[in-house]
Amino acid sequence: TILVLDFGSQYSHLIVRRLREIKVYAEMLPCTQKISELKFKPIGIILSGGPYSVYEEGAPHVDPSIFDLNVPILGICYGMQEIAWINGKGVSRGDKREYGPAILNVTDKECPLFKGMDNSRVWMSHHDKLTELPSGFKTVATTSNSPYAGVSDETKQIYGIQFHPEVTHTVQGKQLLQNFAVDICKAPQNWTMENFIENAIERIRATVGPTAEAIGAVSGGVDSSVAAKLMREAIGDRFHAIFVDNGLMRKDEAIQVKKALDDGLGINLVVVDAGDEFLTNLKGVTDPEKKRKVIGHTFIHVFERVANQIKPKDGSDVGFLLQGTLYPDVIESISFKGPSQTIKSHHNVGGLIDNMQLKLIEPLRELFKDEVRHLGELLGLPEELVWRHPFPGPGIGIRVLGEVTPKQVQIAREADYIFISEIRKAGLYRQISQAFACLLPVKSVGVMGDQRMYEQVIALRAIETVDFMTADWFVFDAAFLKRVASRIVNEVTGVSRVTYDITSKPPATVEWE
Ligand code: XMP
Repeated sequence: TILVLDFGSQYSHLIVRRLREIKVYAEMLPCTQKISELKFKPIGIILSGGPYSVYEEGAPHVDPSIFDLNVPILGICYGMQEIAWINGKGVSRGDKREYGPAILNVTDKECPLFKGMDNSRVWMSHHDKLTELPSGFKTVATTSNSPYAGVSDETKQIYGIQFHPEVTHTVQGKQLLQNFAVDICKAPQNWTMENFIENAIERIRATVGPTAEAIGAVSGGVDSSVAAKLMREAIGDRFHAIFVDNGLMRKDEAIQVKKALDDGLGINLVVVDAGDEFLTNLKGVTDPEKKRKVIGHTFIHVFERVANQIKPKDGSDVGFLLQGTLYPDVIESISFKGPSQTIKSHHNVGGLIDNMQLKLIEPLRELFKDEVRHLGELLGLPEELVWRHPFPGPGIGIRVLGEVTPKQVQIAREADYIFISEIRKAGLYRQISQAFACLLPVKSVGVMGDQRMYEQVIALRAIETVDFMTADWFVFDAAFLKRVASRIVNEVTGVSRVTYDITSKPPATVEWE
């Protein structure tokens, strides 16, 4: 394992990502991690960038015993300054911030870190810089603005770079990380989803043991489906998947989930039709956060009721709760970030663990989303399920603005179905990260035939994004939008007007509520 110590840069997780792409297993921990408390022995360490200044009071510092491990170390940006600071303090604020591309000039062609790299574009994002070489170090690469773009102490195998190899703007960044991980640290390139499946199944078996049973909620999304399939492979019928149909799902969703998971993948599945219960509890609720709470609580309630009916054959209690947690959630919870960067978290089953005294099992907690998709394909999940757009837990409940009634849900659902069907027909589904229709509770005048009507408005939203933290609206051609709008007003009763949302995130969020 390559250990990435995070100083809070917005790019830190990308270091792990890039290493995984070259099949090297890497894990990220906060920079404050005590080396004596590590659960594994790293074969190399990468210090990430970060928003602080090493010389300032309160700046984060790494446990200096990383230098006693005798493993190669690579410092990126703040990470390099940290190495310099610990080894002689040659860091100060530069005259100006350097942000953007620069051309790398490798001055020491023998340096193994820069093997196969030269005169290529690298990405800079820093204000502080090295003012002198720490003792034992030499310069191995420069840019016109950074005389110390790359430094090394090859006897100790410690390297520092001012630029960010983990971002795609650094053209040969992956090459550099590969040079470090594979050539310098001798990391094996065996992180593949094929190997992962075997290990994951063994680990699940070891955790659950020979007789205990496990339950888990499935939503029809890729994460919970992949997690459920792994459980099924590991412990067969001792895993029980529960699908709570909250009445706020997309059209035919419950049928499709049953078909894919139960019939297709042989997963022990209980489908609970609880639509009435959710809609009753939502009566009169218009505040979005309140809706989320009501839906979340109702979910826990229904899930618990059904879960309590599942009794293992030996009469004991169910011991484990499956959760489809992914690595970005894990990173989010351990990441070393300033207090200002709070990020929304959407967890629906949080309360269950406490209430039911179940032990949590999270077989996907090391994986990024695209790794989960690849895993899903290897496990034989249908393509449609593997590439499904994300769908929020509260579903159409937060896509009907204002009060959620069965009639309103029906309108939003039909419009959404038309929109998504047309997107699929046009071959755009995979290009778009997420698309949906939402129903605005405003009345707008229209004419149909000779009749004036006064009906509601559908807003369509389609976005492209990498991480859902920022997003851009998708540019459809006019003929496509025309077709969708015309179908919706003609086929969905209660809609007199269709609009397309052309706001990016930020400032607008993906969902309207
Ligand atoms: P926002 O609206 O925050 O959405 O820009 C970002 C992503 O999160 C999804 N989302 C939710 N998912 N429960 C969920 O499970 C929620 O309450 C929720 N709110 C937003 C949204 O669909 C998008 O993919």
